[in-house]
Amino acid sequence: MHKIAVIPGDGTGPEVIREGLKVLDAVARKAHLTYELVHYDLGGDRYLRTGELLPESVLQELKTCHAIYLGAIGHPDVPPGILERGILLKMRFELDQYINLRPVKLLPGVPTPLKDKGPDDIDFVVVRENTEGLYIGAGGFLKKGTPDEVAIQESINTRKGVERCVRFAFQYCMQRSKKKKLTFCGKTNVLTYAHDLWQRTFHEVATEYPDIATDYAHVDALCMWMVKNPEWFDVIVTDNMFGDIITDLAAMIQGGVGVAAGGNINPEGVSMFEPMGGSAPKYTGKNIINPIAAVAALQMMLSFLHEERAAALVEAAIKKVVKEDMKSMAAGQMGYTTSQIGDLLAEFIATQ
Ligand code: IPM
Ligand code: MN
Repeated sequence: MHKIAVIPGDGTGPEVIREGLKVLDAVARKAHLTYELVHYDLGGDRYLRTGELLPESVLQELKTCHAIYLGAIGHPDVPPGILERGILLKMRFELDQYINLRPVKLLPGVPTPLKDKGPDDIDFVVVRENTEGLYIGAGGFLKKGTPDEVAIQESINTRKGVERCVRFAFQYCMQRSKKKKLTFCGKTNVLTYAHDLWQRTFHEVATEYPDIATDYAHVDALCMWMVKNPEWFDVIVTDNMFGDIITDLAAMIQGGVGVAAGGNINPEGVSMFEPMGGSAPKYTGKNIINPIAAVAALQMMLSFLHEERAAALVEAAIKKVVKEDMKSMAAGQMGYTTSQIGDLLAEFIATQ
């Protein structure tokens, strides 16, 4: 019995999670898996109502779950940083979800903005460090608001944190068994301390994986190659900030935030799976948002729960519906409502 924490969150989060749970229900019947859902009301509305972000008791309960299914965190009436730091990043840090795993795969039938590139060209995975770097919140102000103001935001990179991330990436690349190539994405020509540590660690760990070809790209150049030659990549490993940026670029080439999903992974603990789209306030409550990304996050979650048959069924349903039914991956242009897409996915699974 899988105990799954559900955090629908803000904006369109609840709408896409509802469809994800519909698909989970359908696939559970087919694959004979049992689960228990524990719903948590976290996000901007609760914060505005009660001042609470992520209560300690909730955090402790999350630690007892087998996985977390998250919709979106972000609210137009809350200043930037409060919900992100107080809920999303707090969960990542406190649950030590040290990997942000972002599969980037263009599915047949999904349009990409890249000319002359297709599903054979766009199939890679970004392994982003998820608990360190610029995200840690180290730094502060001096003489804030004066002409002499100083703002410091430090990037913290520990040997342990870098090594476990790099090792995960090598391991993942082995298991994936495609091109068997791992690219370290950094900025070694400027970040001569932080990425020196990364580079040394990368090369040291590489000696344990002689079957994996290693490669390096500066982050700026990698952005060019990702657009021009996405077929070069197999697995990319990078730090938290660069990973944040390149995975949004990657989301666009795989068809947009309507289809892109990610996992916040603690291989030894509780992992959290989420669609990439955010809370999308302008589409909220309209039943027009694309739920595919949330369903792809569900697929990842099932796979991490070792429910491989269920994950494969969900993947097959996504492939069928994006190729044969949906007119577009963009909100409001899918040819169906959000809940109709969920119905199509669930119906497909039921007939398998
Ligand atoms: C992401 C998001 C978050 C991040 C924000 C919401 C804090 O952009 O998951 O990529 O920067 O990590
Ligand atoms: Mn991001």
